[in-house]
Amino acid sequence: MIRRQSLSVLTSFVGRRKPFLFPACYRLIKNRLFCAPAPKPLVAEAIDAVTRLELRVNRWPHTLGLSYIWLRDHCKCPDCYDNFTKQRKLDIQKVPLNIRPASTKTTKEGLEIKWPDGHKSEYTYKYLWQNTYEGWNASYKNPQRLWKAATFPSPQLTTVPLSDILDPKKDGLKRLISSIIVHGLGFISEVSPDVESTRAAVETISPVRTTFYGTVWSFEDNLERADTAYTNIYLGAHNDTTYFTESSRLQVFHCLKKAPQGGETLLVDGFSVAEEFSARHPEGYAFLSSAAIPSEYIGDGQHMATLDTVLKHNPATGCLQQIRYNIYDRAPLSSIPLEKIHEFYLHMRNIGKIVRNPAYEYWLQLEPGTVLIIDNWRLMHGRNAYSGPRIMGGCYISNDDFTSKARVLGIQIN
Ligand SMILES: [Fe+2]
Ligand SMILES: [Zn+2]
Repeated sequence: MIRRQSLSVLTSFVGRRKPFLFPACYRLIKNRLFCAPAPKPLVAEAIDAVTRLELRVNRWPHTLGLSYIWLRDHCKCPDCYDNFTKQRKLDIQKVPLNIRPASTKTTKEGLEIKWPDGHKSEYTYKYLWQNTYEGWNASYKNPQRLWKAATFPSPQLTTVPLSDILDPKKDGLKRLISSIIVHGLGFISEVSPDVESTRAAVETISPVRTTFYGTVWSFEDNLERADTAYTNIYLGAHNDTTYFTESSRLQVFHCLKKAPQGGETLLVDGFSVAEEFSARHPEGYAFLSSAAIPSEYIGDGQHMATLDTVLKHNPATGCLQQIRYNIYDRAPLSSIPLEKIHEFYLHMRNIGKIVRNPAYEYWLQLEPGTVLIIDNWRLMHGRNAYSGPRIMGGCYISNDDFTSKARVLGIQIN
């Protein structure tokens, strides 16, 4: 996991499987996880600290500070929260900023608070731990396993037969989505090599994203669109749709007809690249995390354009959330002032060297019948030049649709 410390401070790499924790707490959690002690009887204590409550629960690695106004805002009683629509009802404008409880009580189930107007709120300890910044960050474990060519995940970890996805008893969809989250990719086998079967297989995740390419597309080297994908030349590793304000999250490839020669698919784990780039060039990592560059698509009656950074981070946690590396779709560089231009090219060349390092490049030949789905916010893709007829089918899925399905299936995702 790579985390940006702040806008003005150079970034530093934080071990990718290490969640963001106060160091002492991390040690405590590690001990708890690895020693697996028998569950202790639950003991909880709430201490009034003027503007907040200090809640100690013996199963927690540290005391949780809870602001009183946060507690009042998070009351889940039927007057404050609609359990049917899952929407808040309490008008926060009517809660005094300096609100303090009339009384607090810890029970076996959770925390009880009586407010000065007689209103009563109850919270389970689990809810408080999982829904506060300090609690959530302490328990979050980054599931991603970054890879290079030599450590590309095996098909046993990433391939799910379509029959397992369609059979609710087999948990196939959960396995597929977990693979995409952990490894950045997943395969669906047993899919007929045609557009409609590809659509049906992919729609087990969510409806496909409609773009000016349509929904499910199939392309060959006929330049039907103004895009190099519609040729037979070599395409270096890149992320797709960097010209959209929100790049497509998932990208689907289904080789409907294999080229007699060439046409192998290239995959690069962009987060592995970012990890190496952060370690070797921290100043470059900081630059590409803060300097927005323009991207565009012109053609087919469209002029798509957006301005964004190459490396994007979760605004709350600072963790790397997306890499937007596409040297083809860069628009004229009007967003970088003269004194920073040289720096920009230096950093782009340095990250580009890692992207093109064969140690990071995994090449595979896609076969008709097996659908490849990649996390386009993490993995880059490319393709070898080819000759002869080749038809590639595919589509996109949006970030919202993908992450929603993961949450519905109970898979933790940011
Ligand atoms: Fe592409
Ligand atoms: Zn309430």
